[in-house]
Amino acid sequence: MIQWPGRRSAASDALTTTHTIADLRTLAHRSTPRPIFDFIDGGAGDEVTVRRNTEAFRGVSLLPRVLRDVSRIDTGANFLGTRAGSPFGLAPVGMTRLAHPDGELAAVRAARELGVPYILSTMTSSSLEAVAQAAPEADRWFQLYLWKDRVASEALVRHAAELGYRALVLTADVPVAGQRLRDARNGMTLPPSFPLRSAARLALHPRWLARTLASEPLGFAALDVERGGFAEQSNRILDPSTTFDDLTWMRSIWSGPLVVKGVLSPADATEAVRRGADAVIVSNHGGRQLENAVATWDALPGVRDAVGDRTEVYVDGGIRSGTHIAAARAAGADAVFVGRPYVYGLMAGGEAGAVRAGRMLQTGLERTMALLGAPAVENLVPEMLAPPRMG
Ligand SMILES: Cc1cc2nc3c(=O)[nH]c(=O)nc-3n(C[C@H](O)[C@H](O)[C@H](O)COP(=O)(O)O)c2cc1C
Repeated sequence: MIQWPGRRSAASDALTTTHTIADLRTLAHRSTPRPIFDFIDGGAGDEVTVRRNTEAFRGVSLLPRVLRDVSRIDTGANFLGTRAGSPFGLAPVGMTRLAHPDGELAAVRAARELGVPYILSTMTSSSLEAVAQAAPEADRWFQLYLWKDRVASEALVRHAAELGYRALVLTADVPVAGQRLRDARNGMTLPPSFPLRSAARLALHPRWLARTLASEPLGFAALDVERGGFAEQSNRILDPSTTFDDLTWMRSIWSGPLVVKGVLSPADATEAVRRGADAVIVSNHGGRQLENAVATWDALPGVRDAVGDRTEVYVDGGIRSGTHIAAARAAGADAVFVGRPYVYGLMAGGEAGAVRAGRMLQTGLERTMALLGAPAVENLVPEMLAPPRMG
């Protein structure tokens, strides 16, 4: 497309019409071929848990305090000893270059611009080096799937440390792959190959196609695997025999902050902390793994109670607005992570779209805090939930 000097592109014009994460999702849907959109948007089985996550946050009931000075709102929050601009971070998302050719590089730059942490996935489609170079000063964490090959896992972890990834996040809820029906029905493989029946769908998205063909071929940048269906790929790499003893081992090889992601049971959270975790992420993988898993909003209070105040507790799954972030804080989370919201942004408009998603969350949080009578995130307390929750 011809771009006249000083004129904005059609993509950035379209972005300005988006005001919620749902708007970004609609735009993402329009601008991306169906199999790609479905891979990102979908979940396991009949997607009960995907809906449960979002509905639980949508159903939150808030009890505001009034006549408090909210002329200055401070959304700053701590993540493992580092101050971030907001109590949210960008969750690890495999193969982010499916959403946009700039993929993980755009995501880490967006995180830097927003002043929030970014977790790079083991299933990254950009190299650890390229992501580090794209935003050296961003708060970069690395997410690990423990592979059957422990020597290779250890080498990867050490490599991440050398490149300045500050925290290590062990994802614990993928002993085997969840059943992703949309992907199975679309014939989606990872890295993607497009069956002939997809050609018509791709042709409907010429801009996406041109962008994708002009960029590096998609692949796993940190793994050496062949192409296959999602379940086939994951099961080739993942180790279903992983236990808490492996967490103890990881604690012995990683000296920085250690986080366990995918915890829903209070007893597992306690055990993770006993084995040396500095934080846990209450997560059901965005409803992509165990079907009918509990909504993360419902699991959060039990985990918070179990680990007490000394361990940081984060939550992800279904968070789509600043109001949801405020509610999560009030319910006992130190901070939240978001996955699909920023990836919808990437699909809708690359880095600018991811930043726009983050700004929606940020400004929404500021507004909600003012309306709740909470000038700082520390003022978001359980009494602001009706009925109040433990936290
Ligand atoms: C397309 C996609 C890929 C994902 N890949 C990973 C991954 O590689 N590692 C991981 O720990 N979690 C992965 N997740 C889960 C996210 O980190 C996060 O838990 C989830 O997206 C949160 O739910 P939300 O999308 O409703 O915000 C992925 C999620 C999506 C949507």
